[in-house]
Amino acid sequence: MSVFTELSKMWLTRSTKPFIFENRFEERLYFINCKNLGLYIHIPFCESICSFCPYCKVKYNKELCDDYIDTLIDEIHLVGSSNCLVDNKSNLIHKKQVTSLYFGGGTPALVSDKIKEILDTVNKYFIITDGIGIELHPENVTVETLNTLKEAGITKISIGIQSFNNKYQSILGRKKVDTDKLSNALSQVRFETVSMDFIFALPNQTFEDLKRDIDTAISIGANHIAIYPFIDFSFTENKVNTMSKNQKRKLLDSITEYFDRNNFYRNSIWTFSKDKGVKYSSMTRDNFLGFGCSATTLLKDTFKVNTFSIEEYQNRVKSRNLPTSLTVYFTLRQRMIYYLFWTAYTTKVSESDFKDFFGISLNKMYGLELKLAQLLGFITKKDGIYRMTNKGAFYYHHYENFYTLAYIDKMWGIMKDKAFPERIEL
Ligand SMILES: C[S@@+](CC[C@H](N)C(=O)[O-])C[C@H]1O[C@@H](n2cnc3c(N)ncnc32)[C@H](O)[C@@H]1O
Ligand code: SF4
Repeated sequence: MSVFTELSKMWLTRSTKPFIFENRFEERLYFINCKNLGLYIHIPFCESICSFCPYCKVKYNKELCDDYIDTLIDEIHLVGSSNCLVDNKSNLIHKKQVTSLYFGGGTPALVSDKIKEILDTVNKYFIITDGIGIELHPENVTVETLNTLKEAGITKISIGIQSFNNKYQSILGRKKVDTDKLSNALSQVRFETVSMDFIFALPNQTFEDLKRDIDTAISIGANHIAIYPFIDFSFTENKVNTMSKNQKRKLLDSITEYFDRNNFYRNSIWTFSKDKGVKYSSMTRDNFLGFGCSATTLLKDTFKVNTFSIEEYQNRVKSRNLPTSLTVYFTLRQRMIYYLFWTAYTTKVSESDFKDFFGISLNKMYGLELKLAQLLGFITKKDGIYRMTNKGAFYYHHYENFYTLAYIDKMWGIMKDKAFPERIEL
């Protein structure tokens, strides 16, 4: 772990105590009183595996996949029923209101015909107020699949384009994207959010390359764009080189200016949309419940990660236990840092939301750091909201990269090989 990451963690948590992930699992998850709760469902199957991808996934196999979905439905029942109030005839009398639900993977659109069944189960325990999103591989974008998803209740889609440029697709080992096919399907079946994912900072990639990608995305129906910096995870088979910090900064500055000039709204560190109301984000939620292997759950003072092993996931749920592999019990300062880190993805932090969540003033806890960040030109403050400047967003991007390599890379690397590691300290 870099000295920088370690020191900043010690400073911000005012402690030398590491984040301790223990091999423990609770009988139930206490989420009923959590405000702004979101849901996430992980589907770990892909038609083919990309060498650079860090996510928990295996090659699609119908039998395994059908079995997995049955287990997933059991897990939703297990978690949902443990918190819900029932009358003396076992009828549910209170459902939990949640903000949104995202299906991620893997390639969840591969199971488009099962989405309705999963949503029927979710709807037994939860009321979703702000829409349901799902990730698609470009190959999944057909009129038939989009119609099935829409009829099941999906309102937002996110397509993993990576690049429309053949050169970068072949560097990433992916197939050329058929823009005519995409455009035709998207014009026939409409969604509130159509997001497209791109990877930037690939070898020798220029602003012109990215500008062409963004323009094409908008012209074929995207109203939301996600630009992810390429990350070389140590446990993947990736052979693609990364770009230097300076080149990356120039590229990110040019992309940000381009979105600014075209009146796009920056709704998170990586995402830009045509209208303020258009959103697609499974990360910027105060609390969330995750279902499926490798899914994470963040509650008031705990964080848990489900096992990455599909087999062990099924064994646990079949024995009516939660499939948690590791749990962190946060100190208050650790939870605050976690809150600030994820909220900062939206490029803004509200004083009143922080006070609402913790019952303590943000200024009292981090007044010095916020003043310093203002002096350095990383953030500005207006009407009780701290907003990141473009300079701040670049450094956040950079710090996030450190964080990803110091924490996520290490943890996922271990969990990929071990279903229930004894303990991980970060
Ligand atoms: C689960 S995939 C999206 C859906 C579908 N599986 C696909 O690949 O089209 C999520 C996104 O993560 C991003 N991603 C994957 N590996 C990455 C890496 N090493 N660095 C940066 N972004 C990455 C890609 O942009 C990808 O679209
Ligand atoms: S990038 Fe998408 S398709 Fe490729 S392995 Fe990862 S999840 Fe699967």
